[in-house]
Amino acid sequence: MAMQTGLNELSKRDELLRRAAEIARKYALGIGERRVAPAQKDLDRLREFHEPFPNRPSDPMQLLQRLDEIGSPATVATTGGRYFGFVIGGTAPASLAATWLAGAWDQNAALRVMSPVAAELEEVVLRWVCEAFGLPANCEGGLVTCATTANFTALVAARHALLARAGWSVVDDGMFGAPPIDVVVGDEVHASILKALSLAGFGKKRLTRVAVDGQGRMRADKLPRLSDRTILCIQAGNVNSGAFDPAVEICARAYEQGAWVHVDGAFGLWANVSPKYRHLTEGFEQADSWATDAHKWPNVNYDSGIVLVKDGEALRSAMTMAAAYLEGGGRREPMYQTPESSRRARGVELWAALKSMGSDGLCSLIERTCAFAQRFAEGFRNAGFEVLNDVVINQVLVSFGSAAVTQKVIRAVQEDGTCWCGGTVWQGKPAMRVSVSSWATTEADVELSLETILRIARESNA
Ligand SMILES: Cc1ncc(COP(=O)(O)O)c(C=O)c1O
Repeated sequence: MAMQTGLNELSKRDELLRRAAEIARKYALGIGERRVAPAQKDLDRLREFHEPFPNRPSDPMQLLQRLDEIGSPATVATTGGRYFGFVIGGTAPASLAATWLAGAWDQNAALRVMSPVAAELEEVVLRWVCEAFGLPANCEGGLVTCATTANFTALVAARHALLARAGWSVVDDGMFGAPPIDVVVGDEVHASILKALSLAGFGKKRLTRVAVDGQGRMRADKLPRLSDRTILCIQAGNVNSGAFDPAVEICARAYEQGAWVHVDGAFGLWANVSPKYRHLTEGFEQADSWATDAHKWPNVNYDSGIVLVKDGEALRSAMTMAAAYLEGGGRREPMYQTPESSRRARGVELWAALKSMGSDGLCSLIERTCAFAQRFAEGFRNAGFEVLNDVVINQVLVSFGSAAVTQKVIRAVQEDGTCWCGGTVWQGKPAMRVSVSSWATTEADVELSLETILRIARESNA
């Protein structure tokens, strides 16, 4: 009898997992047929999720069905080929497949003893990413949720190192009464750096902002005097224009004056794998710490942020925690390099994506998406609209006339559902942003999206 119950239970689980895989497979393969942004009627159905916390259990098969019926239509088709919002990569096929297996493994990647495979794969991918970016092989790092957390982690390591130089232990004595540290950022600093700095105890008003040029690049000739108590944040890939700060000149100055240079390279650093775009990343390898995302250009599924630090000791000293029950072996322990302790095994899908593409595949993904960005820019210009940035990588900023018309076009494009682009304000001028970041985008996707955007823009200008 007990044996019978066990078999029934197993076959129910089997059926549930098969059904889940079937639903997910259908969603993944049918993504190109969906509207990119959900329709209003699909958003309205989300109300059906709101119910009091149920007393009684629900059948997992039925709730899965409900998730698909109400949830799937209310997703945004960011994994399809016509999503150009923010900087959002799709999901590389190997990455999605690996994450299904990793979900079944459900490993806690905090410590090697909890998951030897997670710890090992992290070491491998961190080395590969250092190679891809041309960074020193002895950098240390960790896998975090996103570039914001990667920026935060690196800045906390910088804070630790600079205060230690001044004879102050931030771990023991905290930040109140600590020797002052100067923080220098460009005027086009990404908001995530400001958030990370404030989490690390550096208020916005205490920062020195350096003027930028018309593309948003920090002007090296406007740098203030730096010192060995300065953290200087530079950027590889502006979220709007895609521009890169002049790292060769800036890093040379910072090195002479003893400052710590941190690079926010959320997506731009990946350009280093392409011989065609590598000149843009020149000099960034001279920095002290780097933050990036694998969920952007490399198309690893969420969430996949990466932090790398040249002074591994500073990172570990800032991130280590000790307790009698926590083992520390002789080898790298994932949780001693990141703010998080327990977390999922992000290295699995990162390994799968990078292994499936290799640097050649990653290079063609980068070059293809940059070429599509050029095609968008050419299409906009030919139709008489103003492209506001030099399209150096995968980012395009376009104005359709007055602020009101540009905003009207953005809204109408989003409602149309063929593709999705967001808005921004670039150096005082409202613009639509096109970020081509997905492996799934084809030439046909670009042409269809361009045709749709131009039709809407002409109608809005009529
Ligand atoms: C330059 C830059 N830094 C940081 C971020 C923040 O990334 P995340 O949302 O992964 O924290 C972005 C996002 O687009 C970015 O472009």
